[in-house]
Amino acid sequence: MPAQPYDLDAELARAAEVLRSAHRVTVLTGAGVSAESGVPTFRASDGLWEGHRIEDVATPTGFRKDPELVWRFYNGRRVNVSQVQPNPGHHALVALEDRYGSGFALATQNVDGLHQQAGSKTVFEVHGSLRRTRCTDCERVEDRGLTDLGNRPICAHCGGFLRPDIVWFHEPLPEDTWMSAMRAAQGCEVLLVVGTSAVVYPAAELIPIARRGKSPGATVIECNLDRTAATTQADIGLYGPSGETLPRLVELLR
Ligand code: OAD
Repeated sequence: MPAQPYDLDAELARAAEVLRSAHRVTVLTGAGVSAESGVPTFRASDGLWEGHRIEDVATPTGFRKDPELVWRFYNGRRVNVSQVQPNPGHHALVALEDRYGSGFALATQNVDGLHQQAGSKTVFEVHGSLRRTRCTDCERVEDRGLTDLGNRPICAHCGGFLRPDIVWFHEPLPEDTWMSAMRAAQGCEVLLVVGTSAVVYPAAELIPIARRGKSPGATVIECNLDRTAATTQADIGLYGPSGETLPRLVELLR
């Protein structure tokens, strides 16, 4: 029997139906939710991040080897993010938070702060934030906004070298933030997975955690341009730009 053609309208209607009866909704976002704002995603076909190897700019070893290069890279990303705005996908997630109130939580792998800029309140930044620096000596964390901090910024308190307060490969996630994200995944009735390739762990683990969560486990709705590593775990798939599909979903819920 030939496979049914994909029907986005039908999937949107199913997603709206599930969301209408839910009280606890958690969202996991990745770079795709910010793509329509003009923030590049990570996994381009050349395997490079804006021309750099991941090992050079997103590992503790890369930072030890060449801190100036790493700072130049993140300054570029800070400046990029300072010039963009949240898109309708971010705003639709704010509308969902308005609907579910304290039953809503958003775990993001993004470090761009666009969810908060759009107005989202309960946001767990499991991979850190571009806005913050952390001293490699005294560990002091500071919000420095999105300005260019130069090639080797120094801690004003102890003179140590600063690094971006971002989780690099081979580093643990910030414990409290991660625990909050896990609790939100465990306790939700619906998990909306938006714009992530779902290949980076432990963040992607939030999907099976939600599915195994409090009985009977969450319904997973994937919202992505394409099928991903999360697709086989999703009950409903909204395939298309999240800046279009999420506002349509919110409209159906009104
Ligand atoms: P990826 O770059 O791996 O994946 C982006 C996803 O967004 C892909 O699945 C795209 O299909 C999808 N996408 C692109 N444009 C979209 C749009 N307009 N609407 C909906 N979906 C769209 O980014 P992440 O999954 O976020 O970690 O990557 C996870 C982590 O890998 C990042 O947080 C980063 C990186 O290592 C750190 O920096 C620690």
